[in-house]
Amino acid sequence: MAMFTATGVSESELKAKGRKVVRRAGKQILLVAAEGKIFAVANRCPHEGYPLSEGTEGPGCVLTCNWHNWKFDLASGQALVGRDPVRTYAVEVREGEIFADLSDLPAEIQRKRALDGLVDAARDNDAPRMAREVARLERAGFDASTALTHLIGALNERLEFGTTHAHGAAADWLALAERAPSDAQRLAAILEPISHLTWDTLGARSYPYAEETRAWDANAFLSAVESEDEAGAIAFLRGALRDEVSRQELFSAMGRAALRHYADFGHSAIYTHKGGQLIERLGPESELPVLLALVRSLVNGTREERLPEFRRYDKTLASWHAKGTTPVHAEDFVGLSIDAALDRALLSSGRNPRELYDALLGAAAWNLLHFDLAFDRDTTNQIADNVSWLDFTHALTFANASRHICEGQPDLWPKALLQLALFVGRNKAYVNAQQDVEAFHVADAKRFIAVEMATLYDHGIVEPIIACHRIKMLFALEDELAAAPDAPWVDTMCAAMNRYLNTPQKRHHGLRLAAQARDFIAKEG
Ligand code: FES
Repeated sequence: MAMFTATGVSESELKAKGRKVVRRAGKQILLVAAEGKIFAVANRCPHEGYPLSEGTEGPGCVLTCNWHNWKFDLASGQALVGRDPVRTYAVEVREGEIFADLSDLPAEIQRKRALDGLVDAARDNDAPRMAREVARLERAGFDASTALTHLIGALNERLEFGTTHAHGAAADWLALAERAPSDAQRLAAILEPISHLTWDTLGARSYPYAEETRAWDANAFLSAVESEDEAGAIAFLRGALRDEVSRQELFSAMGRAALRHYADFGHSAIYTHKGGQLIERLGPESELPVLLALVRSLVNGTREERLPEFRRYDKTLASWHAKGTTPVHAEDFVGLSIDAALDRALLSSGRNPRELYDALLGAAAWNLLHFDLAFDRDTTNQIADNVSWLDFTHALTFANASRHICEGQPDLWPKALLQLALFVGRNKAYVNAQQDVEAFHVADAKRFIAVEMATLYDHGIVEPIIACHRIKMLFALEDELAAAPDAPWVDTMCAAMNRYLNTPQKRHHGLRLAAQARDFIAKEG
């Protein structure tokens, strides 16, 4: 509803002066007389807030903000150069005095503008504008997390291989936002997955999802995933959503598909678990895009057990007899090769899965604690040894995800446990058992997690992939501790995370990259 307010400025005064700033209803309004017309716009430039009253007028009623040269059409507010439009106000002249309609735009219009602006900003990874648009959305009365839901939908087709860590860590960022001690920290946490998704889709083409719908059939869905038939798997997903198949049933099938292989080095299980959490947090509007991306990632996930070093997995799984009675501890796995770790797991196959799980998680924690940074710094290694410390973190997040999946479907435990053994055996090649770890002991796990989480509101890390692994680790640890506060791996895992989170890591391997490229091209032409 229009709400014209007297500006206290007469038409004749404005025409004589050309421009004038007035303050009404908590706003700074810039009145401009140009080319026989009168305009009213917000005086604060929508870019960084500098005063447009100091700007330069050009032909065609265009006002240039002199700070960064953005140019605004005074009639429409459109940014002819730059990005965000400037707010314009309708004006009327009543008995020689200028009145301006200072009423807020309807909330829905503000919402649409903010969301359109967010998608536009995502196209060129304009982080400051993304932050402004989400702040505008909040100011219009909407929860900032709806911006994430919108962006997930808008960018979904650009995820060529489906879910990435942007979705994978989003539920944790939202959980962190919920705990934020200030509004700014809350917004900072919500902006993290928004920036990450933007980063992951930057410059990507569109890869539309198949449109067909088929009646839900869990076994047929699993077969479609197994045969890498993305269109078929998506058709069953669409059928499940159409027929309102319960989320539990749907995620049971997803979990089964995720653990069918050592899929994507454990990422399929992680994405499945975290995808469910993300939908829970964002609500039904996020369900379709999150699940479409997840199914695509399940179909496309590499089946790592087909690699030579992991091939013993299938054989061990086939011989899983659930009769191994040997008690097991983390120490039993430390230092074992992949094949030896698989064999050792089999020896305890008849024990409570939780015992084997704790032993494997403990060994994974030991590996994480003892990572040899020489591998991180090496510039002369083979591509096969391009192992980063970050890779080790997946043993924890995979364990956390697979535990949840297996608690709902206990017949999947052998797969989850043997895949954990693959992590443990593979990572043992990159540790230094003599590593001095004394300084990383954590006396109070809960306090440690709280302190480390608090740093994430302002982590200062450029790459989203690094920050997102930090938050995923911390939430996984918190969740594992809640499930088993007295687990035998607690001290080792806390120390491992303490060392990981508080040790500088090399993030650019320019010389290694060049040396490996030269070596490869010299051999292969
Ligand atoms: S503040 Fe106006 S263009 Fe940057």
